[in-house]
Amino acid sequence: MLKKVLVSGASGQLGLEIKDLSSSFNNLDLHFFDSKSWDITNKEKTKSIFDEYKPDYFINCAAYTAVDKAESDIEKCYEINANALHHIAENCNLYNTHIIHISTDFVFDGNKNIPYEENDQTNPISVYGKSKLEGENILSNTSNSFNIIRTSWVYSKYGSNFVKTMLRLAQERKELNIVIDQIGSPTYAKDLASFILENIINLKDKNKEIYHYSNQGVASWYDFAYEIFKIKNIAIKLTPINSDQFPTPSSRPKYSLMNKNKLNSDFGTIVEHWKESLLKCLQTLN
Ligand SMILES: NC(=O)c1ccc[n+]([C@@H]2O[C@H](COP(=O)([O-])OP(=O)(O)OC[C@H]3O[C@@H](n4cnc5c(N)ncnc54)[C@H](OP(=O)(O)O)[C@@H]3O)[C@@H](O)[C@H]2O)c1
Repeated sequence: MLKKVLVSGASGQLGLEIKDLSSSFNNLDLHFFDSKSWDITNKEKTKSIFDEYKPDYFINCAAYTAVDKAESDIEKCYEINANALHHIAENCNLYNTHIIHISTDFVFDGNKNIPYEENDQTNPISVYGKSKLEGENILSNTSNSFNIIRTSWVYSKYGSNFVKTMLRLAQERKELNIVIDQIGSPTYAKDLASFILENIINLKDKNKEIYHYSNQGVASWYDFAYEIFKIKNIAIKLTPINSDQFPTPSSRPKYSLMNKNKLNSDFGTIVEHWKESLLKCLQTLN
């Protein structure tokens, strides 16, 4: 049977990758809303959309993702990443809508040195991370039917991201300093989009479960930049630096690699290595 699916934040990286793939999923009747057609903090609009569509699934790709700006824009960040989920969950409960909500590795403090599991202690060290954790908690306390998928270091041919920033900077400079003491894993938004659409029905069967999703392998930002320029055959001098040499308004976890064993055992999903996925993404970029 055709399942009706609403997608918020449809003009972001993940939203656009889901849109691109949507025609391959003829069991899904997908409806996309950008921040103009649906501001998720607008309670009346949220209610009217749920009243109209009565969806089977809701994929929440909307988020406040400007990690540094969030440090001085706290209220707005919490409105979008946390508070909006109250009334979204209430509407979803009313129509028996299953929520697929995207969260982040930034819910962790980065003090571990082996990959984070879903049940590990959270302890965010930034406003963005705290707001996303609050969003997770609101869903857990309010929603009858949801999954949380935590992801990290997301990039795509769309939007602003590390890959596109590196390619732009390479046109402007001959040398770059890149942070080497933050360890995690990049995630190609198209891979995550494909996982969600392929498993949307199975996800509902794993009600209230949290999953970690990033590409396989481990990287520092330096490794990531190095691989981007290697694949693109761009000659540029890269100098590894530590985070304290590149101060930013927001703190970031030093280590945020996520363990994907649960994803693998529940869905049989083997996520591609980040270098393979990066190659695919770069083939779509000039
Ligand atoms: N990007 C990363 O590195 C990263 C890492 C870990 C987790 N995540 C999570 O992954 C998810 C998808 O991220 P992404 O990279 O696709 O983010 P993105 O490219 O920044 O897209 C987020 C989208 O949310 C929209 N949005 C913002 N406020 C909204 C509101 N009030 N109502 C409706 N839409 C709103 C934005 O629209 P406007 O542009 O029009 O404001 C934007 O299109 C998010 O939950 C994010 O927290 C991302």
